[in-house]
Amino acid sequence: MFRVAGIGILFAALCLPLVWQGAAAQGVNPYAGQPRAVLAGGALFRAQCATCHGADGKGILSIDAPDLSLMWARDGVNDEYVFSVVRDGIPGSIMPPHGLRETELWMLVAFMATLAEGGGDAEFSGDAGNGRRLFAANCSECHRAGAEAGGVLGPVLTGVTRRRSPEALMQSIREPSGRIERGFRPVTVETGAGEAVTGVLKNEDAFSLQLVTEDQDLRAFGRDAVRQVARLGESLMPVFGEADLDDDELADLLAFLHGSQ
Ligand code: HEC
Ligand code: HEC
Repeated sequence: MFRVAGIGILFAALCLPLVWQGAAAQGVNPYAGQPRAVLAGGALFRAQCATCHGADGKGILSIDAPDLSLMWARDGVNDEYVFSVVRDGIPGSIMPPHGLRETELWMLVAFMATLAEGGGDAEFSGDAGNGRRLFAANCSECHRAGAEAGGVLGPVLTGVTRRRSPEALMQSIREPSGRIERGFRPVTVETGAGEAVTGVLKNEDAFSLQLVTEDQDLRAFGRDAVRQVARLGESLMPVFGEADLDDDELADLLAFLHGSQ
């Protein structure tokens, strides 16, 4: 299986023009959007990455391997960031460094870029005024959007409709635990003193970790004070089913979010 993928990659690489040398230095993917590079990158991905990130790149929650279709919407994530994460790995996690050739790394980046969800040109025909009221009543406890005041437990939703499709957003609202973005993973930290604090994990390294707690305080814990970190499978965002918000109301919410800037 690995062998077959390897031959495919070699074949695709031979067909590609050798344009990367100059551009690579600036961190721009020379193969961006090139169908053959995307294909070869996909083969590499299935051979080397799918065991952890899933064949569709949507991540595997139980081992904390993130959904790679979501990362592109995060601030600071671009081709160069993804390239260096794949090459160097993420210290302190099971994400390993990969000793691949530069060409192969860029082909992987080209493939992963096709996983990004965009909602750019979608139509948002809901009633934004009603959406604003629904947002204030149901969502602002944890989210901010545009000029609306709000909480910080969930991500800022300003401009989210330009990064993710309406279908994907509806899914996130109906089934929040289906995919949880890095920086918002739910955990319970138990301290040596017997305290248990639940929140979303912001940062962790060998010495400390930081959460935004359910009560929306930023808390930092030294590793030596932590007895256990339990990763929770359920998002801290409540499920909004049809009975809470029907499809028309969701359309109104998305129209409001689309107008927020
Ligand atoms: C052994 C499991 C494993 C393998 C194999 C693996 N990854 Fe990862 N990867 C992870 C984990 C876990 C993380 C999250 C680490 C963290 O955030 O602490 C991660 C993070 C990433 C990130 C950063 C995501 C973000 O949101 O910033 C990228 C990009 C990535 N992996 C791409 C790849 C690619 C491409 C491959 C194959 C060449 C690969 N990974 C192979 C486990 C793996
Ligand atoms: C109690 C807190 C809380 C409430 C209330 C809440 N959310 Fe969330 N939301 C979160 C958290 C935490 C996340 C990140 C984890 C996840 O994706 O489930 C999140 C994630 C999301 C995402 C995915 C964001 C992205 O960048 O992909 C969307 C969309 C969203 N919420 C919309 C809403 C809407 C719309 C409402 C109101 C109807 C709402 N949320 C109410 C906490 C909340």
